[in-house]
Amino acid sequence: VDYGGQTSTDGTPLRPVDARWLDSVTLGEGNTPVIELPSVGETLGLNSLHAKLEYLNPTGSFKDRGTAVVMAAAKQHGAAEVVEDSSGNAGASVSAYAARAGIKAHIFAPANAPEAKLRQIRAYGAQVHAIEGTREAVTEAALAFHHEHTVMYASHVLSPYFAEGTKIFAYEVFEEFGAELPMHIVIPVGNGSLLLGAWRGFSELKDGGSINYIPRLHAVQASGVRPLVAAFNAEDEPANNGTIAGGIAVGSPARKAQIVEALHAANGEAIAVSDAGILRWHAAIAEREGVFGEPTSAAAFAGVERLVAQGTIGPWDSVLVPVTGFGLKDVPELG
Ligand SMILES: Cc1ncc(COP(=O)(O)O)c(C=O)c1O
Repeated sequence: VDYGGQTSTDGTPLRPVDARWLDSVTLGEGNTPVIELPSVGETLGLNSLHAKLEYLNPTGSFKDRGTAVVMAAAKQHGAAEVVEDSSGNAGASVSAYAARAGIKAHIFAPANAPEAKLRQIRAYGAQVHAIEGTREAVTEAALAFHHEHTVMYASHVLSPYFAEGTKIFAYEVFEEFGAELPMHIVIPVGNGSLLLGAWRGFSELKDGGSINYIPRLHAVQASGVRPLVAAFNAEDEPANNGTIAGGIAVGSPARKAQIVEALHAANGEAIAVSDAGILRWHAAIAEREGVFGEPTSAAAFAGVERLVAQGTIGPWDSVLVPVTGFGLKDVPELG
């Protein structure tokens, strides 16, 4: 597999995806609403805080943007089956688009993934392969399956088609805000598929002369699993102590160097937040704004709080947070 080098699994260069394949698999992803969060903004001391409700994508997370393009490519390549490994949301997304495309999906997921996500994956008719052990063990099992059965690896992490889909997030932000782009976008990051897509989209817009500046893109991780924060700050590799934010519980992101490079280029920061902070913000955005995200998504708000406290975000800076996944997918026990 060498998707990073822009080649398909058998070494042939990637072909552009013909629009008719996208038309045949789309489920209406993208064009998610942007809303203001006045109450939470005031608490944070911010004059302008907006959320882009990525959980209103067809399977309840931003992953649908990337999956639509990956699955259109799979259809164009004539794939009959695909394999993917995921903590849940990418698996649900691939399962839905595979169903739509008439392709059989094999989803490798951690055995302890939230039950609601596993049920969603099964509902689309995909075969779930539950794997005990770390998130990395799940990837290894999926890769072994890919090699053994010669099934296309529809990886949301490695496939360059995926970022071609997530980059549309940036184009929509431009459509929504025009020349007055937010100054900061704060993203929960595990493998970096939204961050790298956003960076690519904004870079294209800037290179094409549509925008004058790229918003500062910040990555938020959990303090228990923070390989990007450590790499960004040139610290030693930290231990993986786990987190309730399952979507960003990625101990060894395959694109770590690329993500760190994008963060520096986007004048961003990489910061870690505690599980307690994540739970506090998970409740606050639901109770105060009616926005029900996953704990993973709430991590971004804990991140905004940190960035304001350390002075990276000033009171007059405009801030946008993508709310990446829907709350019902991963409901924490409330004590
Ligand atoms: C809800 C949610 N937010 C954010 C992320 C992080 O995305 P990425 O791993 O591509 O950085 C995930 C990944 O699974 C997710 O499910």
